Amino acid sequence: MALVDHWPLFGLCVRTPRLELRYPDDDLVAEVAEVAVQGIHEPGFRPFLSAWDEVPPPHQQRNTLQHLWSMRGSWSPTSWKCGLVVVAHGQAIGLQTVLAKSFATRRTVKTGSWLGQAHQGRGYGTEMRAAVLHLAFSGLDAIRAESGAWHDNAASLAVSRRLGYVENGDEWLLRGDEPDREIRLVLTRERWAQRRRHDIELVGLEPCLPFFGAAEADWLLP
Ligand SMILES: CC(C)(COP(=O)(O)OP(=O)(O)OC[C@H]1O[C@@H](n2cnc3c(N)ncnc32)[C@H](O)[C@@H]1OP(=O)(O)O)[C@@H](O)C(=O)NCCC(=O)NCCS
Repeated sequence: MALVDHWPLFGLCVRTPRLELRYPDDDLVAEVAEVAVQGIHEPGFRPFLSAWDEVPPPHQQRNTLQHLWSMRGSWSPTSWKCGLVVVAHGQAIGLQTVLAKSFATRRTVKTGSWLGQAHQGRGYGTEMRAAVLHLAFSGLDAIRAESGAWHDNAASLAVSRRLGYVENGDEWLLRGDEPDREIRLVLTRERWAQRRRHDIELVGLEPCLPFFGAAEADWLLP
């Protein structure tokens, strides 16, 4: 049997006219790790909770590898994190993550993302979020998607607003050693449906549905 027969997520792909979100094999994991090393943000601006990308090679690549491997290794239908590599023109350009706890009952996902700096500001951020929302709402039958961004992350906040999210309060979190304000955002199924696209294709999803807790799970067999 092939790897994809045991772990059908390897066959999962969300395809839009401009890009694909692919569940990565190890070659693609290594490729996206190199994209991160080229830079994700200006020095001094930290868009993430931790400084995982602010360490020199080869430590940074190892951070990315371990991050994606840990998502794979810790997956269960009741608690999953799905890191999808963004591929445009045949090349990895970033990462779009979608995660959930108790999805079978809560039907709620969270997302996080980054693009290599060379690929930012060209609409890919909006396109990849639209793609992952299509996976969540159309493919997995979610009812709610949540996101968050630091108050000064204009690009991330603009992506969310453009796709119909509304603000849902804020939270004071540690950004490095200092507390700072993260803006919470939520997109309901109703608001997604008003803006949904019909040009996004889900490939290889059916055998993955039990993995997401989105179909009867055969996961916990005796
Ligand atoms: C956040 C991110 C994924 C957005 O992707 P992107 O491809 O740069 O964004 P887009 O080109 O799709 O632009 C989306 C919107 O943001 C606006 N925007 C883009 N870059 C901007 C910037 N530096 N400042 C202000 N607005 C910006 C665009 O004008 C657009 O607005 P519009 O929809 O009103 O026209 C990307 O910038 C990124 O990876 N940033 C660093 C990592 C990060 O911040 N991740 C998110 C953590 S919460």
